[in-house]
Amino acid sequence: MLQRLKGFRDMYPEQMRARRVVFDKITSVVRSFGFHEIDAPSVELLDLFRVKSGEEIVKQTFSFVDKGGREITLIPELTPTVSRMIAARKDLTKPAKWYSFPKMWRYEEPQSGRLREFYQFNADIFGVKEIYADAEVMALAMEILDSLGLKGKYVMRFSDRILMENILNSMGISDIEGAFRLIDKKNKISEEKFREEMEKIAGKDNTESLVGILQMQGDVDTVLGKLEHFKRSDVLGELRDLLLAYGKRAMLDLSVVRGLAYYTGVVFEVHESKGEYRAVLGGGRYDHVVELFGAQPTPAVGFGMGDAVLELLMKREGVWPEERIDVDYFIAIIHGFRKEAIKIAMLLRNKGYRVDMELTRRGIGKQLKYANKINARYVVIVGEETRQGEVVVKDMESGEQKNVKIEDL
Ligand code: HAM
Repeated sequence: MLQRLKGFRDMYPEQMRARRVVFDKITSVVRSFGFHEIDAPSVELLDLFRVKSGEEIVKQTFSFVDKGGREITLIPELTPTVSRMIAARKDLTKPAKWYSFPKMWRYEEPQSGRLREFYQFNADIFGVKEIYADAEVMALAMEILDSLGLKGKYVMRFSDRILMENILNSMGISDIEGAFRLIDKKNKISEEKFREEMEKIAGKDNTESLVGILQMQGDVDTVLGKLEHFKRSDVLGELRDLLLAYGKRAMLDLSVVRGLAYYTGVVFEVHESKGEYRAVLGGGRYDHVVELFGAQPTPAVGFGMGDAVLELLMKREGVWPEERIDVDYFIAIIHGFRKEAIKIAMLLRNKGYRVDMELTRRGIGKQLKYANKINARYVVIVGEETRQGEVVVKDMESGEQKNVKIEDL
């Protein structure tokens, strides 16, 4: 037998139904924040990610040479693509608030919450340099999680690459990008391994103080109080205050730096409170990506949230929607009344109901069993009664059955 590839998922109707409920909820929240939907190609030139995302992500691409000899790849993320789209249109009204729900692919070792194919919800704001946009996308991320029933089940942690850069610079560390990449991996490797690698980049003494700094987390004032001599503290305090106005809380955590190369300011991540899974979502500010496509400098900030960890978490917390298909009506047919049944099905469909109809010649008993299996709310039995302009309607919850005039359906 030919097997499904590792890290990919089959999605059956019951599962898809539950997922659709979740995606629709996310969509309604992001639209309530005034974002507009976009879509983009699933395949791009590999160079797009070489230049924009950094080597980590390129190592994980599903890439290949196409028939025209081009090195192309399934998209591992969307940020370079949306930046290119922004750069290509000078007439766009700014700020531009965009969201999308693309599938993406990463050649990672499949594990709980990490797959080779997943959906990643993206929301980004282009054209705002003020911290207000950072607050808006962070609040959006939290509002989405709250609306999915996860209030109190997650922690939003943020930091600031400028602040971290100041700290690393003050220590005389030159390989800032390497240091960020290692800090990003800190929780996935042992403390020993981290120290060993960091000593290569920063030296022994610096590594010691860095380990201390990276453990600092909590309220902005408390953490920054310990780091007085570094700038940017006012911005982070303001961010905290803005989030409070949205009714949201976040924690400053200097170990959050994010693995992607393009971030330039605030970076943030959400983890579930028990710390069992990898990040639920991550994002930050990337002010210099759009201009790499030859456009005017355009500040940007946003985040990506995969569906995999979200699903694990919602299932654990008992808030994942029931995996169950259903319809409003099932039209059962007595032999000889098919045309009448079709008319009634179309009448109900045109009224906006979800209507299934018997498509075989089986008897009424079997039809009712099927209606039960697909969780039909009502069954309309079409037979002799149509001669008097009536049908039999069965309420599948109460079992009650009565004759109803067709025009009253
Ligand atoms: P990222 O941290 O690489 O950022 O991914 C963001 C989220 O995508 C993760 O937190 C996780 O939910 C999901 N994700 C990533 N890899 C996998 C995987 N192998 N399986 C399942 N889910 C996964 C970015 O991609 C940035 N482009 C996000 C962004 C948008 N920053 C600004 N705007």
